[in-house]
Amino acid sequence: MNWGVLDRYAKSLIKEAGQHIKHSFSTEIVVSSKSSANDLVTNIDREIEQFFIKRIHRDFPNHRIMGEEGFGDDIQSLDGVIWFLDPIDGTMNFVHQKRNFAISLGIYIDGIGMLGYVYDVMADDLYSAMKDEGAYLNDIRLPKLMDTTIEEAIVGVNASWVAPNRYVDHDPIIDLVNKCRGTRSYGSAALELIHVATGRVDVYMSMRLSPWDVAGGMIIANEVGAISSTMSGQQPGMLQSETFMVANASVHTQLLEEFIVLKK
Ligand code: IPD
Ligand code: CA
Ligand code: CA
Repeated sequence: MNWGVLDRYAKSLIKEAGQHIKHSFSTEIVVSSKSSANDLVTNIDREIEQFFIKRIHRDFPNHRIMGEEGFGDDIQSLDGVIWFLDPIDGTMNFVHQKRNFAISLGIYIDGIGMLGYVYDVMADDLYSAMKDEGAYLNDIRLPKLMDTTIEEAIVGVNASWVAPNRYVDHDPIIDLVNKCRGTRSYGSAALELIHVATGRVDVYMSMRLSPWDVAGGMIIANEVGAISSTMSGQQPGMLQSETFMVANASVHTQLLEEFIVLKK
């Protein structure tokens, strides 16, 4: 596999998809809900996923695609080349704010992340990384993250973490919120991974994310030294939804040991 060629191909596909998304604002966007009233999808999410899949299947017939909207392949194993695609991550932001959403794409071979992309469409910021080759914002290389402490950290959690919930004990999270410098929540897992990779935020945690939410951002975060895992400290399995966290390496273990108490 020539990863340089694939990288250029993926970047141009992403930029083209971004243009389609921008143009969609002058058309009618049809919003519907999926698993719950707050789980939104639009005709644009579906069209963009289909755009990617048609092209990838045409140009790389041996590659498989796992896409959020279900137009891709039925992926039961990580063998071969798999594209993990979220055509619009942050659909609620897309619908309500027309910003703060991203195209998220990760290309893996035999379960190993090789190429990662998160495209902040409205800012025209393309974050990308190739395994062992560093991470970039457009053409500018992202520096490795500097060490931090919980006291100096900005923690990406939303309000549901400090209320009783079925995933984690909320009392240690209240301690974390009180101890850290501040909290933020942006509504797009892919962009939140990028905020950790750029040092704008030091930790991001989610109770339930899918492979397409994290596949691209994890490769980028890894290249600057951040650590991604489930909240039990395992490598994300990439075949199903799981808990997820990404953090500056200097606080990742402390977070797991002191502040995250998973419910059985
Ligand atoms: C969602 C966003 C959101 C996260 C949800 C995801 P979607 O993706 O990333 O920030 O909290 O868990 O499902 O539905 O907008 O693609
Ligand atoms: Ca998503
Ligand atoms: Ca989505």
